[in-house]
Amino acid sequence: MALLPILRFPDPRLKKVATPVVGIDDSIRKLVADMGETMYEASGIGLAATQVDIHKRVVVIDTSEERNQLRVFINPQLVRCEGLQTGEEGCLSVPGIYDKVERAERVTVNYLDLDGKAQSLTAEGLLAVCIQHEIDHLDGHVFVDHLSQLKQTRIKSKLAKQARVTA
Ligand code: NI
Repeated sequence: MALLPILRFPDPRLKKVATPVVGIDDSIRKLVADMGETMYEASGIGLAATQVDIHKRVVVIDTSEERNQLRVFINPQLVRCEGLQTGEEGCLSVPGIYDKVERAERVTVNYLDLDGKAQSLTAEGLLAVCIQHEIDHLDGHVFVDHLSQLKQTRIKSKLAKQARVTA
């Protein structure tokens, strides 16, 4: 396994739309293992392949307290969204920035597991938010896209300042 570098907003590569996985082979299994390791190392609860500059529809999520329930979603598709919830979101690609985003309260997602078997999951609360946030990444969207233009401009200048300080 290996840690993968995470792209930082506003890197234009975060806007690429990921393509579906056609066959689950060793390269996909290695990608999933590396993404899991990268997510845990960065203390994140979700990571989309887009964020590590691999533009395939692969997502890993772990919202468990114990950080030992890695969920893998290949070619995830939202087939049902119900209700609304608003919660504070952050993103490994937008370090140090948190803001409120409105999402569906409950979602049903169809996907393939690592064995290539079709699965369906209905989730609510934090897991539902996380699934929506990660599928957004696969479609080239970051959570700050949901915020006002003014907030987006402020976030870009704050991140640019951080980059200068750490450079
Ligand atoms: Ni994110």
